[in-house]
Amino acid sequence: MLASTSQPCSTTTSPPTRPKIVVCTDLGPALPLLRERRDIDVVTWAENRCCDRTWMLQSVVGASGIVVCFQNAVDRELVESAGPNLRVVSTISVGYEHIDLKVMAEHNIQVGYTPDILTDAVADSAVMLALMASRRAGQSYIFVKDNQWPTFHWTPFAFCGPQLSTTAFSPTRTVGFLGFGRIAHAVLKRLAAFGFTRCIYTPRPGAASQSVRDAQLCISHGLDSVAPVDLPTLAHDSDVLFVLAPGGPTTRHLVDEAFLRLMRPTSVLVNNGRGSVVDSVALARALAEGWIWGAGLDVVEEEPQVGPEHPLVREPRCVVLPHIGSAALETRSEMAALTARNVLAGVLGQPLPMALDYSTVI
Ligand code: DGY
Repeated sequence: MLASTSQPCSTTTSPPTRPKIVVCTDLGPALPLLRERRDIDVVTWAENRCCDRTWMLQSVVGASGIVVCFQNAVDRELVESAGPNLRVVSTISVGYEHIDLKVMAEHNIQVGYTPDILTDAVADSAVMLALMASRRAGQSYIFVKDNQWPTFHWTPFAFCGPQLSTTAFSPTRTVGFLGFGRIAHAVLKRLAAFGFTRCIYTPRPGAASQSVRDAQLCISHGLDSVAPVDLPTLAHDSDVLFVLAPGGPTTRHLVDEAFLRLMRPTSVLVNNGRGSVVDSVALARALAEGWIWGAGLDVVEEEPQVGPEHPLVREPRCVVLPHIGSAALETRSEMAALTARNVLAGVLGQPLPMALDYSTVI
């Protein structure tokens, strides 16, 4: 449900001197933070679907601030349509691949985003996907929905899958992370309760050694080791591999056929990062031919064009969710409020509560 009742391209009463904010996505309960102000004009996309590009290009003319989600490309065309008033782009996401940061820098436009507050929600969903993929929850749920239970002959090994937690008879587990930032750390914290014994990750190219931090993680989570490894070792040694890397050209298809062939028939891959990091064709083949056990995906390279005929949706041991990693009520409300506060601060010339320091990433 959208909170706004305004029509596309309509504004509140608008003396021309008031700054304009264009809201291209649903801010839900946070929209009044903007709409109730008398010193700004607010234009909202009022339909319950991804904002239309033509509407965006027309509506942003003269805007000082724009609110977007990860599906809205913020590129040169949009910035030039907005014109010289544009001071801030505020995205309701931790990811910022949809924003051309070079263009932002050229035009001295600030970028607000929403890291941290979604960490726990995404970590929860990553663990959920790991459990679903390993224990075949997606497959067995569809089995019941398809009315197959009444004719099912229960047998001890039907719907079995590898256990996520360690046991006395299987006492070690290795978790791997492709992308070892805030969300990965929150996943690791959760997996410690499942008895994981070893954590491996691939460091960012050129990153300084984090041996002190790794030693601390080891102690605080009761692990045997936390250590950086190369990509082949990550692929081969991970019982569960979490892809939590950002998208973009530098990470595209890091998980490709060569990588997947190094994984083991009992290992599980989870992607809560960006779809582009995993080669969908190679993953579908890995599942079909049993190079890995299963996959849990919240993001897919081709999204949102992921219908029932998509090769990954067709794979019985692949659980696919429609990019809902941070979709916890509390989290999304906080994200929306921060997004509103970011755009407001940018338009009023105040420091953004959560600004992206893009000088370090371009
Ligand atoms: C993000 O925050 O980048 C998610 O992918 C969308 O909420």
